[in-house]
Amino acid sequence: MSPFAPDSFSVLSAQRHSVRAYRQEPVHAHLLQQLLATARQAPSGANLQPGSFVAVQGEARTRLSADLVAAFRAGQQELEDYAYFPQPMPALLRRRQVAAARALYGALGIGREDRAARDAQFERNFCFFEAPVALVVTVRSDFGSGGYMDLGMTLYGLMLAAQSCGLATCAIGALASYPGLVRRHLGLQEDSSIVCGMALGYADLQAPVNQTLTTRCELEEYFRVVG
Ligand SMILES: Cc1cc2nc3c(=O)[nH]c(=O)nc-3n(C[C@H](O)[C@H](O)[C@H](O)COP(=O)(O)O)c2cc1C
Repeated sequence: MSPFAPDSFSVLSAQRHSVRAYRQEPVHAHLLQQLLATARQAPSGANLQPGSFVAVQGEARTRLSADLVAAFRAGQQELEDYAYFPQPMPALLRRRQVAAARALYGALGIGREDRAARDAQFERNFCFFEAPVALVVTVRSDFGSGGYMDLGMTLYGLMLAAQSCGLATCAIGALASYPGLVRRHLGLQEDSSIVCGMALGYADLQAPVNQTLTTRCELEEYFRVVG
């Protein structure tokens, strides 16, 4: 038997993709807790287990999203808690970024020049894509890159745990654009950095936005053998 026969992990990871429209079917609190417990099995340096998750719901969620949308529409800018993208973006990465945007806006039939439609889609980040579960991911501000690396493993664990239960997710880096605003709403102090948001719920499979298909670069582009 081939050692490359599909196993449950490779099937799960191939099936997972970012979902940006959800059915209005609630996710039970107990299931959400189980998913987070599974994700927390991720390894971390010295087992420090960096990062925290806040599920924002009810009025608190409505108010947070309303203020985020208002800030975005007003063109407000905040200093982010951490640098995400290389500045300036190297050409190779820029091509990948453009391809991802083309996949998303292409699925929605939004043209390159249609700024208003692109902004409207971007704004949906701040409403957690209307997913039944809205998570805010934070980390102590004194963690360096290693802490973010560890937390990334937990995030991927959460995505795959959700996928294994028939749920879908989308990480929302856009939330990190307004760290002060998010902190105020969640009652967090300056020593909590806002890493990202996450939408979680049951995918609306009919929604055009969920037809977005991204690809990955060739193995040779990121793996080589020396010696
Ligand atoms: C940390 C992180 C932040 C992200 N932030 C956003 C975001 O703000 N808005 C969005 O629509 N997608 C966001 N994404 C989804 C990526 O665009 C997506 O993962 C990538 O294009 C690959 O597509 P796939 O997840 O469908 O495989 C984010 C993904 C990650 C891992």
